[in-house]
Amino acid sequence: MNRFLWGVATSAYQIEGAAENDWTDWEARGRLKAPGVRCGPATGHRERWRADLALLPTIGANAYRYSIEWSRIEPKRGEFDEAALELESQRAEYLARLGIEPVVTLHHYTHPRWFLEDGGWEHPQSVRWFSRLAERVGAALPNVRFWVTLNEPIVFVLGGYLGGMIPPGRKSFAAAAKALEHLLRGHAEAAAVLARSRAGARVGIAHNMLDFAADRADSSLDRRLAEAGEALYNRALVEAVATGRMTWSFPGEGRADFRIADLVGASSYLGVNYYSRVHLRFRGLLGPVGEFFYRDRHGRGLTDMGWEIHPAGFDRVLKLAFQSKLPILVTENGIATSDDRVRCAFLHEHCLILNHQLARGAPIEGYFYWSLLDNFEWLEGFRPRFGLFEVDYATFARRRRPSADLFASLGKTLASNAQGRASQGSDAR
Ligand code: FCB
Repeated sequence: MNRFLWGVATSAYQIEGAAENDWTDWEARGRLKAPGVRCGPATGHRERWRADLALLPTIGANAYRYSIEWSRIEPKRGEFDEAALELESQRAEYLARLGIEPVVTLHHYTHPRWFLEDGGWEHPQSVRWFSRLAERVGAALPNVRFWVTLNEPIVFVLGGYLGGMIPPGRKSFAAAAKALEHLLRGHAEAAAVLARSRAGARVGIAHNMLDFAADRADSSLDRRLAEAGEALYNRALVEAVATGRMTWSFPGEGRADFRIADLVGASSYLGVNYYSRVHLRFRGLLGPVGEFFYRDRHGRGLTDMGWEIHPAGFDRVLKLAFQSKLPILVTENGIATSDDRVRCAFLHEHCLILNHQLARGAPIEGYFYWSLLDNFEWLEGFRPRFGLFEVDYATFARRRRPSADLFASLGKTLASNAQGRASQGSDAR
């Protein structure tokens, strides 16, 4: 039994920006909700990475999930930047010296420019481009065991290929389905590459899961929409990683059904990113079939992302994730708030659910809070504050929040419960 992974998650672009990629272009085109905002150097992590990583042992973390920035590693197609790879190797070694297990994400939303210019995820070659990235990064990091190939592929294709809110800004169900198929093929190929190149490789996808509810509990149409949302957003990927078959249908938009034989057995765990619950409301047959809302059903207020705080939903999505029959890593869970007492309550309540699941022997192998630091939040810019450490964007100074101490003490309790479970050898999948 591996030790329970207790850590925090970040992504490269959100803490250190990038010289140029598809997201910097998106910002330049004024496509963020936060007008005029540019990520730039984000939190200045590129210069401060050693000091930032040295914070990890101070919060009782034994693991750290972070991503590589593809546009830095392979700025031109087929041309890999050795200095960028060397920096990643130093980073992983530094983590190892700190006693921190690195969990490396290969794809966390951003791409080099060439990737989109050459056709992006709709192009069949994208699978090869991605597995070649896995080969090169894998070779530079021979001692890294834990890998996340894709961060939130469903969110990414819904936003980037169907809704057009994020790069590449496509709005087509057929394009979204094609992109999803290639992403999943890319996952399978990258996983095979990584598994071949090291003993005990652990490779998975980080899957964003939401709790779904009918907006009007007495409306059968709202209920059916909520079920469709759950199937499309949560369930389809859970089933695909287990069976190789992806059945994906979006009410009013289309339906895709494909099988990828190599997907079966490619994942050694399923990552779950959980933040909130959404309420779905049926609108009509003309135009979009429905709308979704975050409702403040418990009178606790919404987070600074406008999301509901709903720990019970964490329990529900975990149970659904267990249906994959894979071990689970909670690869993200967190809250944006300017009130750290609210963050503490959020952490406490979600860890209670986690603890309960561990006590009943659930196959959960780790938990990552989003995020170590305040960071650049995609469409929203720097306003939402997710960090256990506050970032002063004028000076790039870091200030520890009380939630960092709470995180450290929760880690001790959960790790000992997880250990107790391991010695009993139970399994409640
Ligand atoms: C997740 C993303 C992560 C961060 C959090 C708040 O969906 O994976 O990068 O933006 O939301």
